[in-house]
Amino acid sequence: MTETEEPVWKRDFPYQAVGEDEVTRREFARFLVAGAGVMAAGNVGFAAWTQLRTINTGEPREIIALSEVPVGETHLFRYPTEADPAVLVRLGDREVAAFSQKCTHLGCVVYFEAEENRWHCPCHEGNFDARTGEVLSGPPPRPLGKIEVELRGDTVWALGADL
Ligand code: FES
Repeated sequence: MTETEEPVWKRDFPYQAVGEDEVTRREFARFLVAGAGVMAAGNVGFAAWTQLRTINTGEPREIIALSEVPVGETHLFRYPTEADPAVLVRLGDREVAAFSQKCTHLGCVVYFEAEENRWHCPCHEGNFDARTGEVLSGPPPRPLGKIEVELRGDTVWALGADL
């Protein structure tokens, strides 16, 4: 059979569908458009998710009376939900700071080391600044999740969290 000859099956079934040659291209184009649409929707969803993660979450809530936390001591609580372990430290007479207790490396629990004035993660020796939660050393890729706190009289309030 030469290239100009029709195949046997075409001779036996000499019916030509309308636009037979374009079907494959159209389907290919549809797959391309559908694939691009799915990727675009995925990108939009991912961008929204990352934005929502950094939005200030949590309702203003009383945490503890300041007088119950001696200077240099901590108080464990949960914020913004009962599933979020958090820790407050009293750094001075009227100075407090609060953070998520989860290390930003692999999620171990961080502890306050008063003598070093830092948060310490024993899992891989990660260290964070006591006041700001910024990474001082070790593998954590970002600061501790911060909980905004405010003193109202003798009461410590949590106002929101950036976890
Ligand atoms: S989990 Fe905290 S340093 Fe690795």
